[in-house]
Amino acid sequence: MPVTVVSAATTTLSAVRVLVLNGPNLRRLGSREPEVYGREDYPALVTACEQVGKELGLDVEVRQTDDEAELVAWLHEAAGARLPVVLNPAAFTHYSYALRDACAQRTAPLVEVHLTNPATRESFRHTSVVAGVATGTVAGFGLRSYELALRAVAAQPSGT
Ligand code: DQA
Repeated sequence: MPVTVVSAATTTLSAVRVLVLNGPNLRRLGSREPEVYGREDYPALVTACEQVGKELGLDVEVRQTDDEAELVAWLHEAAGARLPVVLNPAAFTHYSYALRDACAQRTAPLVEVHLTNPATRESFRHTSVVAGVATGTVAGFGLRSYELALRAVAAQPSGT
């Protein structure tokens, strides 16, 4: 009598890579206007993102730059590799069409984040040139904005 052997395929699911990109002045968190941006510093932001990433099964890489060209290059890298992005464009949010055009090339989710809620602040912060090409925006929750953004990415890592 023939014997049928059914073997379950073993698939190793590799963690979804996510870039958490931060724009100008964000490395100075903790000492930069703490009454506005809080007392937690940039290393705390990195740790918080890595911890929540671990919890969600995401391979999170956190970067910061004050240089618009470098941030654009990182967004090209994400677009080319179809990597989801959590992006705090900082002041570039409000005027960088170069950043906006780089974000528009994405095919994976891109969540715009802000520590503060720009809508409650000076009028120049009320415009985001990035929001229109982002999957969504989380703003106003301090470091938790990043956690919420990563949870959104984990819920739809390849959706847009
Ligand atoms: C910010 C808000 C921006 O208006 C500001 O320029 C920043 C930080 C935030 O996270 O709240 O640098 O993006």
